[in-house]
Amino acid sequence: MFLHGGDYNPEQWLDVKDPVWKEDMLHAKEAGINCLTVGIFSWSFLEPEDGVYDFSFLDEVMDMLHQNGMKAILATPSGARPPWMVKKYPSVLRMTAERLPHVYGGRHNACMSSPDFRRKVTEINTLLAKRYGSHPALIGWHVSNEYNNDCHCPACQESFRRWLKDRYGTIDNLNHSWWNGFWSHWYHDFSEIESPTAPYWNGEAESPAHLVAWRRYCSDKVVEFFRMECEPLRKYTPNIPVTANMMHTFTGINYFDLGRAMDVASWDNYPVWKGDERDGDAIASVNFRHDLMRGTGGQKPFWMMESCPGAVNWMDHNSLRIPGTVKHQGMAAIAHGSDSVQYFQYRAGRGGSEQFHGSVLPPDGRTDTRTFREVSEVGRTLQAIGKAQGSVTRNRVALLYDWNCRWMLDNAWLVHRGNQNYEGTAIAHYQALQAAGIGVDVVDEQSSLEGYQALVIPMGFVLMNGFAEKCKDFAKKGGRVFVTYMSGYVNEEMLRYDRVHPLDELTGVRIEEMDALDESRRNTFTWNGKQYDVFEMAQLVTPQGAEVLSVYEKQFYAGQPMLTRNGYGDGACYTLQGRTDWRFLRDFYGELLRDCVILPDLPEGVLATERFGEHRWLFLENANHFPVQVKLDGSYTNEITGEKLSGEIILPDFEVMVLRDERENHV
Ligand code: GLA
Ligand code: ZN
Repeated sequence: MFLHGGDYNPEQWLDVKDPVWKEDMLHAKEAGINCLTVGIFSWSFLEPEDGVYDFSFLDEVMDMLHQNGMKAILATPSGARPPWMVKKYPSVLRMTAERLPHVYGGRHNACMSSPDFRRKVTEINTLLAKRYGSHPALIGWHVSNEYNNDCHCPACQESFRRWLKDRYGTIDNLNHSWWNGFWSHWYHDFSEIESPTAPYWNGEAESPAHLVAWRRYCSDKVVEFFRMECEPLRKYTPNIPVTANMMHTFTGINYFDLGRAMDVASWDNYPVWKGDERDGDAIASVNFRHDLMRGTGGQKPFWMMESCPGAVNWMDHNSLRIPGTVKHQGMAAIAHGSDSVQYFQYRAGRGGSEQFHGSVLPPDGRTDTRTFREVSEVGRTLQAIGKAQGSVTRNRVALLYDWNCRWMLDNAWLVHRGNQNYEGTAIAHYQALQAAGIGVDVVDEQSSLEGYQALVIPMGFVLMNGFAEKCKDFAKKGGRVFVTYMSGYVNEEMLRYDRVHPLDELTGVRIEEMDALDESRRNTFTWNGKQYDVFEMAQLVTPQGAEVLSVYEKQFYAGQPMLTRNGYGDGACYTLQGRTDWRFLRDFYGELLRDCVILPDLPEGVLATERFGEHRWLFLENANHFPVQVKLDGSYTNEITGEKLSGEIILPDFEVMVLRDERENHV
């Protein structure tokens, strides 16, 4: 069965648990909710004093879930601490980049190097694992909450220096890697190195390699901390899958590293709608995030751990969601490989900063609401398509998104100071592929390319060790590689190349200059008889073997290559030298990757994905304000209604259709 439920923090109603908890169970069943995530912020109740434990409330909650036929995802409580802990062990809190100690309050602000915090976390996780490991309701561990890490305390400085020593071995090696001959930054001992500070603060804020090393260290620290949290869980409950809820493209953690350490990847889905949930760009970014998060878990089914059943309360403007959004959002997650639809939050508290955040149940527990009706419809729908649970995606095109590129582009002094729009570029390519009817797997430079027919590299700024070779191998064996501007500039240590540029052989072009295009410098090019714009960013290159498919048309750029193709082994490498919008990319990929299309000739605003298990399921998402006609390529059954379908069908307004392929050889 698909999981349907979400975060539930019943400790907020301890004094009125009868009738509130009973009501909660009753309504959960009415809404087809089968799984609640508990214990996320419970530490103050579980350990009211140092070393004094009281599991009575959680015992009762776990038993109650089981008696009501529900499953529990149990959290470790490290996301927030009880006040006594900070009084007794001040080191559990962080220090800011300005070296100011945090004051008790908030959440997600513990120091991951603090020996006291680490010990307390291990103790409580051990007790939780031993106590609930064989509880019949337990189906998963939710470790901490939305990890992040940026602590500048003395213990973290030491930990950073140890990490540097492990990575670089000697201080001279670090100096060479960071190019410290520049500005007299040559270190003589690891003890001289400090964590970077905020831009233009006193301290280090400008040395790109130093800043990137800090990002890598902070990310590695989270992964290490996660593993530490998992130790007792894995020891006492080896069969219970472990996850931590991620935040899509959050820059603080390389989620591929964290995802690889988990049994199931999970993430929290809070799209920023620009006014309308049917906005195509916003939908593309949500779908990209699903596919990225699935990628961090090695393309296995993932969990959408949180999503809002109403309006959130932390954006600048928290607008109501149009009717149908809850269902659309839930079904889109399933379409991209999620095995769950979970919400934040099941019941909203009467107080606290999230008292006005959307929830399945409002504080008064009423169910005669639009939200409750929509959530219940999701419950019924998930039941109807239950057979598809556990099915997997099998996409033919891989799109690169790598945190190393992100970090280096964010910290390099480049054509656009500060923001090279790495994420937006990846999403534009993603959106184009989807619009062309192509399913996408998002991968990083470490991921295997086995089984793919094409690899798209938007702004692959850094070539991590071995990646250029991997791309060449891929092309040699027949793969098509698409490389954009801003690719292959630096090595794993962020140094520019001195002699051989490792991608040149594959691309068949040599990069000469990069350019920031302001509005007066927009350019154009023509491909397949249609003219398109180039804006924001472009390169001038010299072909070295590559065939020029299209040239820039304006200003001193005129006549120079914009699109190239280089045959390589059994495959080929295409390059795009300037930034274009997704509509060009859709036409381009649609033409060159025809063999990777899931369903051809999709109307604009209709997106197709597929999952494979006992059957093949085709998902059709309509992001339009109106019903559209779609032409199917065979015979299908609507998994939700049971209706048989083939040929031209009507896809209703804003619907996600789930179609079971009836052709025998299509599994
Ligand atoms: C995050 C957190 C939740 C809650 C929601 C609100 O995703 O994990 O605890 O604060 O945001 O949108
Ligand atoms: Zn610290």
